[in-house]
Amino acid sequence: MKILVTGGAGFIGSNFIRYWLKKYPNDEILNLDKLTYAGHIESTSDFAENPNYKFIKGDICDSGTVDSVVEGVETVVHFAAETHVDRSIVGPGPFVVTNVIGTHILLESALRHGVKRFHHISTDEVFGSLELDSGKKFSEKTIYDPRSAYAASKASSDHFVRAYFQTYGLPITITNCSNNFGPFQDPEKFIPRMITDLIEGRDVKIYGDGKNVRDWLYVEDHIKAIEAVLTKGQPGQTYLVGGMTNDISNLEVAKMVLKIFDKDESSIKFVKDRLGHDRRYAVDWSKIEKELGWKPEHDFDSWLEKTVSWYRKNEWWWKPLKKESEKLYAKMGQ
Ligand code: NAD
Ligand code: TYD
Repeated sequence: MKILVTGGAGFIGSNFIRYWLKKYPNDEILNLDKLTYAGHIESTSDFAENPNYKFIKGDICDSGTVDSVVEGVETVVHFAAETHVDRSIVGPGPFVVTNVIGTHILLESALRHGVKRFHHISTDEVFGSLELDSGKKFSEKTIYDPRSAYAASKASSDHFVRAYFQTYGLPITITNCSNNFGPFQDPEKFIPRMITDLIEGRDVKIYGDGKNVRDWLYVEDHIKAIEAVLTKGQPGQTYLVGGMTNDISNLEVAKMVLKIFDKDESSIKFVKDRLGHDRRYAVDWSKIEKELGWKPEHDFDSWLEKTVSWYRKNEWWWKPLKKESEKLYAKMGQ
């Protein structure tokens, strides 16, 4: 099978390609990535020479490039996006362009070339924010209520993907996943920012009161959910994907990371809160479990420790990125 992965030099995309080439050595993977600030060719170095893998530097908004790459492809796995909420606060424009227009260009091309499956990777953030301690969870029936420009652009792309199924019969599937963590995540994001700050001897930064809750999933579990949908999922269907953490606050996550480093709470610095900061995310993943037999396998505690070890051993990967990400935070006062 010939698969087009978009955004395969990013965090989840590069982990997906690594997993897929190993498990399905006869499949061919094309990786179309623009290499924005979030795309790191170094994340692909261990599989770059695989004869079944090819990297194409290009923009999903460029229909000429997209058309030439989609030709002959059976499956599209669409990760490419602007993904960082904080950047969407500073400048929402690129989120509209890549996430909405780029997705539309890919859909058009997939339809023209008779792609057999278009899998769209999305987020639980399209559903908005839940109250702390409400016990509620997002499900496939939850009404969209995005509250950041990132979430709004992803929500829009989800609607376009579904429209191409309803209107033109393009065989699409969608996964809306919760927060991922693991190797090769840019040090701009919460968990790798804390780990790399601690390695460099700085305090960890907590926005606001630190009571915000995220639903954390180890990246390989997300990839296995995508695999389940690609191999067993039904065209037209959406599946929610989430982790095993039970309402764990950012402050609690920070304390766990500090414990791994043998540090105490004096290494926490509370900084300005994020504008429009979503309070709580929680995902009901019972549909994908019931219909496709997927459930998360990696518990948070031990895989957080393994993730810390990975960052300790791979300074060559994140050191050059750290300066750039801290420039952004200096600008934002965080
Ligand atoms: P990332 O920011 O690490 O990587 C995004 C990749 O897309 C980068 O390699 C970048 O160069 C590429 N890209 C951006 N704009 C492009 C364009 N116009 N053309 C081609 N390539 C472009 O993102 P990630 O964390 O790996 O997320 C991947 C996908 O998963 C996204 O669609 C995101 O919305 C979704 N998602 C992420 C999470 C998470 O916790 N990281 C959770 C749920 C869903
Ligand atoms: P992030 O990794 O940006 O993911 P998302 O906003 O998509 O959930 O942030 C996760 C949570 O951590 C979010 O509530 C914001 C918070 N946060 C901090 O408290 N400190 C930080 O330094 C960062 C980057 C995030």
